[in-house]
Formats: sequence, C-alpha cells, structure tokens
Amino acid sequence: MYNMKTKTIPCICLAIFISVCGMAQNALLIPPILEGPIYDLTMQQDTTYWSGNAYATMGYNGNILGPTLIFNKGEETTLNVTNDIGETTTTHWHGAHVAPENDGGPHTAIVQGDTWSPSFTVLDKACTLWYHPHQHHFTMKHVVLGLAGLIIVRDDEEAALSLPRDYGVDDFPIIIQTKVLEEVGMNYEIGYSTTENGNGPNPNGDSSQFINATQNAVLDLPRQVVRLRILNGVTHRVFNYGISDGSTFWQIGSDGGLLNDPVPLTKLMLAPGERAEILVDLTSYSVGNSFTFKSYASTMKNGFWGATEAFSTGTSPANYYPNPLNGIDFDLMTINVVAQTASPVTSIPSSLVTVTQLDSTTVDVHRDKYFITAGGENTCPHISSTPGGSSADCFDVNVINDVVALGSTELWTLHGDDSQYHPFHIHDVQFNILERNGLPPPLNEKGLKDVVAIGPGEIVKIIMKFEDFVGDIPYMYHCHILPHEDRGMMGQFIVDPNVYVDKNFSGVELGTLSNPFNSITEGATLGDHGVILNILSTGVHMEAPPSLLMDKSIQLIVHFPPVIIE
Ligand code: C2O
Ligand code: CU
Ligand code: CU
Repeated sequence: MYNMKTKTIPCICLAIFISVCGMAQNALLIPPILEGPIYDLTMQQDTTYWSGNAYATMGYNGNILGPTLIFNKGEETTLNVTNDIGETTTTHWHGAHVAPENDGGPHTAIVQGDTWSPSFTVLDKACTLWYHPHQHHFTMKHVVLGLAGLIIVRDDEEAALSLPRDYGVDDFPIIIQTKVLEEVGMNYEIGYSTTENGNGPNPNGDSSQFINATQNAVLDLPRQVVRLRILNGVTHRVFNYGISDGSTFWQIGSDGGLLNDPVPLTKLMLAPGERAEILVDLTSYSVGNSFTFKSYASTMKNGFWGATEAFSTGTSPANYYPNPLNGIDFDLMTINVVAQTASPVTSIPSSLVTVTQLDSTTVDVHRDKYFITAGGENTCPHISSTPGGSSADCFDVNVINDVVALGSTELWTLHGDDSQYHPFHIHDVQFNILERNGLPPPLNEKGLKDVVAIGPGEIVKIIMKFEDFVGDIPYMYHCHILPHEDRGMMGQFIVDPNVYVDKNFSGVELGTLSNPFNSITEGATLGDHGVILNILSTGVHMEAPPSLLMDKSIQLIVHFPPVIIE
C-alpha cells in the first residue's frame, strides 16, 4: 500500500511536470557585473540547456552571453580578450568612441588561443553599449551562438540624477533575442547562416524568444521606478515593445547617452543593435500584480522583419511565413510586482541632460549611401554611394570606401531600400538624426545614436563629427541585419589627419585658399577631378573647369602633402 503510493506519486508529478514544462517560467538570468579598469574576457564554447535539451553555445566567461562590463568615463581601461572558440573571431565595442586599433572590427582578428589587449580612455557619456564578435562572414554565427554582452558606461552627469542605478535591483539588463532552435537527428542545434557555409537551415525560423538567454523569463520588479536597459541583440527582427496593460513608460536614453527629457511612450520599436534605456513606474501597482512585457509585431509596417511581411513589395522569403512570431503580438517576459527596496526612486525626473545637437550649418562634407538588396538578398546586399550600385559595391576588405578628414562634420543621406528596412550602424562616432523623410525625428530619436532603422523607401539624414582618432585601420559602417552585414552590406572608412576639406568650394573659382599645413611644395600643380590646384607659397590656388561650375554641391577634398603630378 505504502509502497504503491510512493510509486504512483512520482508518476503523477512527472506527468504534471511535463505538461507545464512548455510554459514553465524561468527566473531571468542577470549576467554578472565585471568592473575595471582591467577586464579579462574569454570567448569559450559551452553548453546551454533550454527545455531540458542541450545546445552547443558560446559565451564570454561562461556558457552564454557575457558579463555586463561597467566602464567609467575618463578611466584608462584595458580589456584582455582571449579567444577559445576554436576559430578566428574579433570582439567589437559597439558604440564606443575608440581608436581604430581598439575598435575590434573585422581587421582585428584574434586567432584561437590568442589574447588581444586594447587599452583606451573611456570617452563615452553614460550610456548602454554592447560588445560582440565582428569577424567578416561569421558575425551572425558567433552572435547567435551566444557571444554578446552589455556595457554600462557611468559618468558624473548621470550620477547626479535621481535615477535607478542599482544593477539587478532596480536597474536591469534586458538583451532581447530570438533564435532558431532545431532538432537535427538526435541533437538540438541553434540555426544560423553564413556565406561560407551557404544558408543554414531555415535562417528565418527564429521562433524562440529569449531575454538574457532565458526562455519564458519571469522577473520580480519592486513597486517603484525601475530602469530597463534594452538591447535588441537579434539577427534581423525588429521588436515593438510594450506593456500588456497598455501602461506608459519613459525612454530616458538612446544608443549613445541620456535624452534631454524622459519621453513618454506606450510602444517602442528597436532594430538590431539599437539600445534604449526606459523607466517603468510601478508605484501604482500592488505587490502581487503581474503583467507581461510584449512585442506588438502585429502593428508593425510590412517591410520591417517580424511584421506580417518582411518585404513591403514583392514576395517575402518562403520560409518567413511559418514563423509563428511574425506579424503577431507575443510575450517576452512576465513581470511580478514585489515589495519596494530600501531607498526606492518613486518618480520620473522631469529632465535629464542637455544633448548638443550638431548643426547642419557646420557640415563640411555630404555623402549619400544607398541600401540595395535588389537581386542580391542572399548573395550580395550592399551599400552604395550611387543610386543603382552594383555588386562591385559589396564589401571588399581591400577597398577603402570613404576617406574622412579629421575634425570634419559630415552629413550622410541614407536612402532606404524599396522593399525592406535596414538598420544602419557606423563605428567611431555617435550621430544625430537630422531628418526622417524631410521631417524632424521623433523626440526619442533626438539623442545620440549609432544605429538608425531606415524603413522601406525612407530617406534619413544623419550628422556626425569625426574627432580624436585617425589611422590606417578602417572603421566600418554597415547594415546591422547580421546576414546582410556578413554577405557584404558594409563599407569602411579611414579618418585621415592629412586631408583638408574646403567646405566653401561650390564650383566657382576660389582664388587662393590658405594652406592649413606648411609642408607644401611651392609651384607644384595637382590635377584632381579636373580641378587645377596651383601650389603657391601663399597657399593653394584653385580653378575649376566649366563642367564643375554647374555642380554647386561638390566639395573639394585636398590631401596634404599633395600628390605631385609632373
Ligand atoms: Cu554592432 Cu559593426 O557592429
Ligand atoms: Cu559597432
Ligand atoms: Cu540590411
């Protein structure tokens, strides 16, 4: 009798356990903090269990994701990054203003077994950055297998504000990802695609959602104002965050720092690579209340990956439709309201910091960039400087696409693709968005940015200033849809101290331009694009041919010391 009961009870328990297993909630993983000024990171291979199944994953100092790095503005910082994943990769400090040799882009390979040790002074304002591998063709693979972590930058300006900043108590990392989980024979695998391996199985089947690598995450939040640092860390999906009861939340920070004032929102779209810091006010809830944090993909416009259609014109990829997350509202995380902490923040500040907007009157150079996937979604999507573009514009590691003058301010006009969105990202600088389709950007896009989503057919103007760092190692700009970046939707630029931009040159004869450098050969002449430069002891005398007189938009870029054409 007794024995029978002890046999049947475990049996029933097991059955109940299995039936709730699919919906079982898991406490949100909070990545540990790593403080400096010396940080040791090892990229390693490991195993992560989801729903009891083992997946081969990669992580920094652990099985998946990486510790949250705390940077302090002004602090001399060294990162020792060891590669133990069995293949070459890099680690990039996404959004950080660092010298090209410290940036960790595709030119800074770390081979298996090696350690790369960049050192730099943190120049960024308080913000939320992130780090991830950037090996050309393999960024998607390494990120989806788990290599990604947050960086919290602290500074005095932020510290003076009444904001939640107690990590894991009232200030939380929220890395949102969807992954392709597959059963392959007897094993479970995370799906991905690379150009080296061809398309991996069903690369659009990213139908499992994670926060901080936790499925069906649940988080206890105290009944006060809490801060969430959200990163969209996926391959191509856009999330449209919101709270299930429709509550307002406040965005306080964008990619590169705090906004002028908290911006009240009920929905927030974030594209891959973008970050937002938000405040959620739980003071009017009662302990025991719960709600969910969701993505409202049903209201996203077609052409944004994750909406009903990936493309606004033409046919979305065939394997897009079976993905149950596309075009619907789905849960990301359950929130349970718990008791207040000892010294809670209980109100939303009325203002934050003063964001200095770059001014379009100071622009030295204009460039146009066109996002082109036509005919090449799976082969060679590219960014081109001309409207048509060609597959020759596909990323080539041996081609410098743009030379930027140190100290110059540039206005880039980003021309969207006809049918699908692309999140544009640039290294080295934070930019301001000047215009979206001829209109000023919404308030929450008026801060510092390093990623901007360009919807189908949209035209977005951004402005940025290239200061502090020069060098022969290129910085990158690219689409942050990881399969696009891996397949060539990327360009590179160098910042050159020996370039002088004459922003006043508008196609008329300028006379003599004073030479900002002294190392110039008297009497030499230089022909460049039909412009005649006479190098005089007093400066450079420039004459433009009649054809250039017609083009008022041209800017003349003079390299010093000049190339002498005999
Ligand atoms: Cu987040 Cu060039 O990367
Ligand atoms: Cu970056
Ligand atoms: Cu793209």
